[in-house]
Amino acid sequence: MKNILVTGATGFIGRSLTRRLQELAGPDGRVIGLGSQAVDLANRTATFDWFDKNHWGWDCDHIFHLAALYKAGGWPVEHPATQFFVNMSINVNVLEAWKRYFPKARFTSIVSYCMYPPHDNAHPETELWGTEPEEYLFSYAMTKKALLIGQRAYQQEFKLASTSVVLPTVYGPGDSFAENSHVMGALIGKFVRAAQNNLPRVEVWGTGSQEREYLFIEDAVDGILAAAKKSDRDVLNLGPGRTYTIREIVEFIRTASGFKGEVVYNPTRFTGVQKRLLDVRLAKEAIDWSAETTIEAGIAKTVEWYKAASAQ
Ligand SMILES: NC(=O)c1ccc[n+]([C@@H]2O[C@H](COP(=O)([O-])OP(=O)(O)OC[C@H]3O[C@@H](n4cnc5c(N)ncnc54)[C@H](OP(=O)(O)O)[C@@H]3O)[C@@H](O)[C@H]2O)c1
Repeated sequence: MKNILVTGATGFIGRSLTRRLQELAGPDGRVIGLGSQAVDLANRTATFDWFDKNHWGWDCDHIFHLAALYKAGGWPVEHPATQFFVNMSINVNVLEAWKRYFPKARFTSIVSYCMYPPHDNAHPETELWGTEPEEYLFSYAMTKKALLIGQRAYQQEFKLASTSVVLPTVYGPGDSFAENSHVMGALIGKFVRAAQNNLPRVEVWGTGSQEREYLFIEDAVDGILAAAKKSDRDVLNLGPGRTYTIREIVEFIRTASGFKGEVVYNPTRFTGVQKRLLDVRLAKEAIDWSAETTIEAGIAKTVEWYKAASAQ
């Protein structure tokens, strides 16, 4: 560790850390410490301008990321949205600059124990995320959680009203029917094209035992509108409240599409989590909404739509 970049180097921890790093790096090394006077890391243009000018001739091998906006006392209570905006901006800008300019550098950041839930027992690291989202969707899922955090912060600081709905897989006319689409669109696309072209077989990814919850597009729109008008909750699950296996879905689609060939399940293909189901009991009570379309009717309408669209 010789060529080091420290963000937040003018802060309380950053000053001590930078001093120590300078001693360790020795005369051959170089430690660049950044404070907000040097560059406003919340500003994307300013951040990339700084890295554009300063990355030449320097092979940074470690980035310590400490920059953050935090003020003690009542400030965080009154400024949750400001904190969200500035700290999210600093973090996305610094991560992207790391990737663009110093991808060989190792990255060390400092977070805080205020992330843990409030209770009296010692906090193990496993408590950090609660029950984690699936690994392959972790980042996507957490950006959605960060959005909810932002909505709450803007409500708290600026009294901006918002709500949010959680949806399962939505399907229906207008969906994408390519092979790499969501499972319902992908399967409908495969079966309809196979029926139209008299293909002998259709391959289905996985064993067919995975269970998913599906919401028809018209029901989804009704639910979103009802939530927008009536929900006083920050987040509400919307869905039919039951799952179907892929095999059940395949049978509905096979019937609707008129495909007469063989269905081959390929268990070597990636299929994700075994089962996913939302608890939708609050939706009825909070916004008087429930999903009306049966899975057979929804699939039949979608297949008819795709047949007509793909025949044009
Ligand atoms: N102190 C603690 O007890 C503690 C505990 C847990 C975690 N942490 C984390 O450790 C890190 C450092 O804490 P600290 O106590 O040293 O913080 P601090 O004294 O408040 O210093 C914050 C640093 O971030 C910089 N900064 C803020 N906004 C910036 C922006 N828009 N652009 C560029 N730089 C910006 C500040 O620069 P200027 O001063 O030049 O404006 C300063 O160097 C933070 O990420 C904090 O969340 C601290």
